[in-house]
Amino acid sequence: MIYRSPFRTWEALARVKMKSAHPGAWLKGGAGKWLPDDPWSVAAHPDLSETIRPQVSAALLLARLDFTVQLENACISRVARDIAGRALPGEYPEQMVIDALRVQCDEAYHALLALELSAHVERLAGVGRVRYEHHFLAQIERVQHAAGCADAMRIAFCAAVVAETVITKMLRDDWHDQEVQRDVRAFFMHHCRDEARHSAYFSQALRIVWPQWEPRTRSALQPLWRDLITWFVLPDAAVENAVLVAAGVGGSDAARIVNDCRLRACAASGRRVSVEATLLSLKRAGICEGGPDEPIPHAASAAARESMSETLS
Ligand SMILES: [Fe+2]
Ligand SMILES: [Fe+2]
Repeated sequence: MIYRSPFRTWEALARVKMKSAHPGAWLKGGAGKWLPDDPWSVAAHPDLSETIRPQVSAALLLARLDFTVQLENACISRVARDIAGRALPGEYPEQMVIDALRVQCDEAYHALLALELSAHVERLAGVGRVRYEHHFLAQIERVQHAAGCADAMRIAFCAAVVAETVITKMLRDDWHDQEVQRDVRAFFMHHCRDEARHSAYFSQALRIVWPQWEPRTRSALQPLWRDLITWFVLPDAAVENAVLVAAGVGGSDAARIVNDCRLRACAASGRRVSVEATLLSLKRAGICEGGPDEPIPHAASAAARESMSETLS
């Protein structure tokens, strides 16, 4: 496969290149929701009292920003560094190596924006920041540990492919929610603009390195795709539970609310389609031979399937 750099406009359009001279100068304040009222969000659950709902919403935003920082540092930047150092197994062109360094620049900047926004939200909402153990990252570590060092780098690469493919759509949806506070939307917008390039980068990288890996390695990794996508797309139950308990919700009520919302997230067509559309695109690309285990919905998912196919084509 010929690599076509998605970074041809990077010098002019990468958010890190457009950054204001003053750290935090992009933060303007103003009213608005901390996060969209997704039906699967615990902040939108009907049993939550109106007095603690904004506090829960701010804490969920802070948890998401903490996840962004950890994801960039512990996963995406490391994988980009592996490619930049030609440590990821496989042969790939010089331009892909150069672009991996650009990904590292972008991801460090996204983590910086997330930290600046976190401090701002903490001040405005009066909710303290917590460093969480996030399910997606913990599961990757668990799988890497079980597989041993020989495959750890490949597993991290697959996780990065999933994260970088799915995150763009999630950021785009949240950026366009007019009810969300403008600094939060600005963060989603900055991040989303860069991630469109990254998702094109990682989909090409996957198509270049995957066919070069031994058949035994590819077979061992195939069952991981559905798990990685599900871990990334579904809400993090442990984090949500911790947020509710910290806001004063009793332990059994918190567990029930989290469970209700998890069922709603599993049933939500957008989330389900993200999982299945990504799997279908991987199958079409010859990466994931097994494909989705369950039937893929028809009309409702067609647009999302096409958008994922474009991402991975
Ligand atoms: Fe990022
Ligand atoms: Fe990225």
